[in-house]
Amino acid sequence: METLPLQPSIRISGVVEVPGDKSISHRAVILGSIANGTTIIENFLEGEDCMRTVDTFRKMSVNIEKCGSTIKIEGKGKDNLKEPIEPIYFGNSGTTARLMLGLLASLPFSSFVYGDQSLTKRPMDRVIIPLQEMGGDFIGRKKTSYLPLALNGGNLHGITYNMPVNSAQVKSAILLAGIGAKGKTKVIENYPTRNHTENMLQAFGATIKITDNEIEVENSDELKATNIYVPGDISSAAFLLTAAAIIPGSRLVINNVGLNSTRAGFLEVLERMGANVSILRETKNAGELIGDIQVTHSPLKGITIEGEIIPRLIDEIPIIALLATQAEGKTIIRNAEELRVKETDRINAIVEVLSKLGARIEATDDGMVIEGKTPLIGGTVMSYHDHRIAMMAVIASLITKDNVNIDELASISISYPNFMDDLNSIIQKDI
Ligand code: S3P
Repeated sequence: METLPLQPSIRISGVVEVPGDKSISHRAVILGSIANGTTIIENFLEGEDCMRTVDTFRKMSVNIEKCGSTIKIEGKGKDNLKEPIEPIYFGNSGTTARLMLGLLASLPFSSFVYGDQSLTKRPMDRVIIPLQEMGGDFIGRKKTSYLPLALNGGNLHGITYNMPVNSAQVKSAILLAGIGAKGKTKVIENYPTRNHTENMLQAFGATIKITDNEIEVENSDELKATNIYVPGDISSAAFLLTAAAIIPGSRLVINNVGLNSTRAGFLEVLERMGANVSILRETKNAGELIGDIQVTHSPLKGITIEGEIIPRLIDEIPIIALLATQAEGKTIIRNAEELRVKETDRINAIVEVLSKLGARIEATDDGMVIEGKTPLIGGTVMSYHDHRIAMMAVIASLITKDNVNIDELASISISYPNFMDDLNSIIQKDI
């Protein structure tokens, strides 16, 4: 059990950077490993999830060197990937699992894949079904819906797939399978989900066509290595920005954060709730918008969050729920049923943790309703071994009257290994 210190009379102030984007780091390793030539990735996220993707390619004999947050990959093209002679462990990483199932299905050898307890309970049929339609040959538990799985890769053909869930992992799995399949592969989205795979495929020279909500790829044997700078992860930044938004007197700047509009729904929510948000500088790298974000505290109000914005902030809902406890009035979150199949059932986890800490919050089938503004008390909570629930509890502890105890904080290293140090560096105790 960890006891988080009481933090009376603090404000949040400073200029920081957060570690590299998790989604982009995964994709940079995947495309770098199947491209021809040397790819250098800078500001790679050294979290456990992304290291699972690195290990996966090392098992297929790709030479990947890591020096801090810089990664060097000697790509020899996907035809030179070797059959893994051991089962591949995806750990806790849903992104590694779904994206790699797509790629492995297209490669001409067999693979055996498995994950940790949480990943073993998460649905894989959402990628298996379209991959089987493309000719993929899988076997696994419960009608091949869950890890562990065995697959015989190769001989895929293109399909047109109307996505039944709003999931970038599903979209990406099909596109990665598509670049190794015969013919054209088209994915049709209902609402836009994060488009990092499309951006990066373009940066590596794949044949890809994007029109409105349709993405089409063709067999691309010749991806060309390129260098990638990974922007700071807006999903990690959201925790620190929330601390600034809920603590009076705060002003925080986070430099070099990814601002891709398919990811930046959180900033729109902050603004609609009444926080002062400004973007101080913008640049672009490999198709990704990057900028410096400033948030200063101001009174917040409750809002309704639903529809197309949900996939653009799906990972930020735990911290948005905390934000809503400090906003005047009611916040309603709808259409977020995907939260039930994340690292844990996040609807239950958020409601359990925040109600223990004194919030007025109720779960619904596809979201939650939060009544603010409520002073938070202390209490003993669980992280459910979910990095984003653990970080939500830590940020909550900055404003609780009594201590917060939590069963573990180690899971935070999945996406933000230096979270505690970065947070401590912006806590000012001088008021
Ligand atoms: C991710 C997509 C999202 C997100 C996850 C990362 C990705 O999952 O929740 O943390 O990198 O593609 P879904 O595709 O399941 O929505």
